[in-house]
Amino acid sequence: MNTNNGGAEASTVLNHALEMRHVSKSFLGTLAVDDVSFTALPGEVHALVGENGAGKSTLMRILAGSFSDYTGEILIGGRPVALHSPGAAKEHGIGMVYQELSLARPISVAENLLAERLPQIKGTPFVDWKAVEREAKALLERVGLENLDIYASISEISQCEAQLVEIAKVLGRNPSVLVMDEPTSALSSAEVTRLFEIIRRLKSQGIAIAYISHHLQEIFEIADTITVMRDGKHVKTCKVSEVSSETIVELMVGRSIGEFYSKREVKIGGEIFRVERASRYGFFHDINLRVCEGEILGVCGLAGAGRTELARSIMGVDPLDGGEIYINGQKTRIRNMGEAIEKGVVYLTENRKTDGLALALTVSENSLSTMISRLSRGIFYRGRKHRNLVVDLIRKLSIYPRMPDAVVNNLSGGNQQKVLMAKWIAAAPKLMILDEPTRGVDIGAKEIIHKAISDLTAKGSAVILFTSDLPEMVGLCDRVMIMRQGHIIGEIDRQNMSERSLLLAANGEGEFVA
Ligand SMILES: Nc1ncnc2c1ncn2[C@@H]1O[C@H](COP(=O)(O)OP(=O)(O)OP(=O)(O)O)[C@@H](O)[C@H]1O
Ligand SMILES: [Mg+2]
Repeated sequence: MNTNNGGAEASTVLNHALEMRHVSKSFLGTLAVDDVSFTALPGEVHALVGENGAGKSTLMRILAGSFSDYTGEILIGGRPVALHSPGAAKEHGIGMVYQELSLARPISVAENLLAERLPQIKGTPFVDWKAVEREAKALLERVGLENLDIYASISEISQCEAQLVEIAKVLGRNPSVLVMDEPTSALSSAEVTRLFEIIRRLKSQGIAIAYISHHLQEIFEIADTITVMRDGKHVKTCKVSEVSSETIVELMVGRSIGEFYSKREVKIGGEIFRVERASRYGFFHDINLRVCEGEILGVCGLAGAGRTELARSIMGVDPLDGGEIYINGQKTRIRNMGEAIEKGVVYLTENRKTDGLALALTVSENSLSTMISRLSRGIFYRGRKHRNLVVDLIRKLSIYPRMPDAVVNNLSGGNQQKVLMAKWIAAAPKLMILDEPTRGVDIGAKEIIHKAISDLTAKGSAVILFTSDLPEMVGLCDRVMIMRQGHIIGEIDRQNMSERSLLLAANGEGEFVA
C-alpha cells in the first residue's frame, strides 16, 4: 500500500512519509527509547546513528510493529496510525530489513520472497508455480538479481544475495517507508556499491528510507539527513551536507575519538599453528600458513576469496580434501568444532546469530559455554569462580547491560558481538580465528574489542584475522597473507602494510603479489 503519492495533495504541502513524535519505549523499567522524534520525506534517506545500545533498532522496531506498548504518536503519509503489531505496520506500508537476516534458510528464494502469500491456482489449494516464478523474478529484478536461481535455497546463496533477497521480499509489499538496520554489515565494498544503486532507485520512486549504520562513510555517501541518538535520546538531526564526520562522532559518543590504533608491543614467539598444502576442492587450494605465539596474522581478500571456507575447514566444520594441520609442531586432525576447541583452536564466526550464540541463554551461560568442563571438578560446579570470570569479562569488554544474567537476545546487536568475543576469550585459546570481529559494533566498542585481541596475544595466543575493514587490518596485523580465488597469492609485512597496498593486492595487483 503506497500512501505517499497523494496526487493533488502532494503538490501543495509535501507530507512527511513518516513522522514519529515523542516516541518512547521501555523494557522493564529501562527507557530504551526516550521521547524521540524522527521524520522522513518521500524519496529521502534519513540515517540513524549512535553507539551500541543507543536505541536505534528499538526505535525502528517500534515502526515495524514489534511492540504494542510504545508511547507517542506516529503518522504515515500525514495520517496517525497505531503500529501495535507487525501486521498493522505492514498494512501501513512499513517495510523492515532487519539487522540480522530473517530469511528461512532451508527453503527456496522464491518461497522466501512470497512467504505468506504464495499464489494459488484458482479454486484449488495448489501453489501456482508459474505465477510464483513470474512474481519472484520481477521482485529480484528490482534488486538487480534477475539471474539468481529462484529455486536455490537461502543457505546456498551468498550473504550479499540473501541480503538483497530480503530487501526484494520487503519491496514485494510496496512499502512507502523502508527501514534498513545495518544493511551493509555483511557486504563487501563492491556489494555496498550495488546496494546503493538500488537505494537510489528506490529514492527516485519516492520511498522514504530510514537507514541505520555504523559506517559514517556510507552515510555521507547515501543519506540526506542524519539523526544521532545517545542513551535512548534524540541528540541532533541535521542535513548530511552541513555536518562533518568528526562532529557526528562527538555527538555519538559524547567525547572526541582520535586515531586509536596503537602499535602493539608484543614479542612474537615460536610457532603455534601451521597449515600445509590445505585444499578443499572448489574453494581453496594448496594453502600454507603459519602463525606464532603473540602474532596476529591477517588474511585479506575480496568476498568469495575463500577465507570463510578456509576457516571452516580448519575448524573441522567442513572437510579438508587435502593437507595437514600442526599444532605446536605436532601433526593433528580436527574432525569437528568440539575437537578444535579441545585442542585450543576457536573460531569467532561472521554470523553470530546462526552459529556462535545461544540467544535464549544469559550472558553468563554464553560466556562460559566453552569451558564448563574445564572449570568443573567432577560434579561440583564452581559457581563463584565462574561468576567472577563473567563479571570480569563484562567489565573488560564493557558489555551492556552489566548483568551476567541478562538474556543475550535482549542485548543490542553490538553487545551481542561482545558476548561472542567474551565466550572465546574465556576459552583461553592457543589460536583464535576471527571472522569480522567488529561487524556491527560502534567506534568505542571497536576499540575495546581491539584491545581484547591485543591482550590475548600478549598472553601468548596466536590470532588469525579476517576482516574487510582495512584500517583494522593495518592497525592490528603483524603480517597479512593475500588470498584470491582460493589461493594465497602474496604476503605483506608490517612495514609495507597500508590500506592501499592491501586493496591492490586483494585485487591481484601491486608489487606484493606473485
Ligand atoms: N527485548 C528487550 N528486552 C530488554 N532490553 C532490550 C530489549 N531490546 C533491546 N533492549 C535494550 O534496549 C537498549 C537499546 O537497544 P537497541 O538494540 O535499540 O540498540 P542499538 O542502538 O540498535 O544498538 P546496536 O548498534 O548495538 O545494534 C539496549 O540497552 C538493549 O539492551
Ligand atoms: Mg541495533
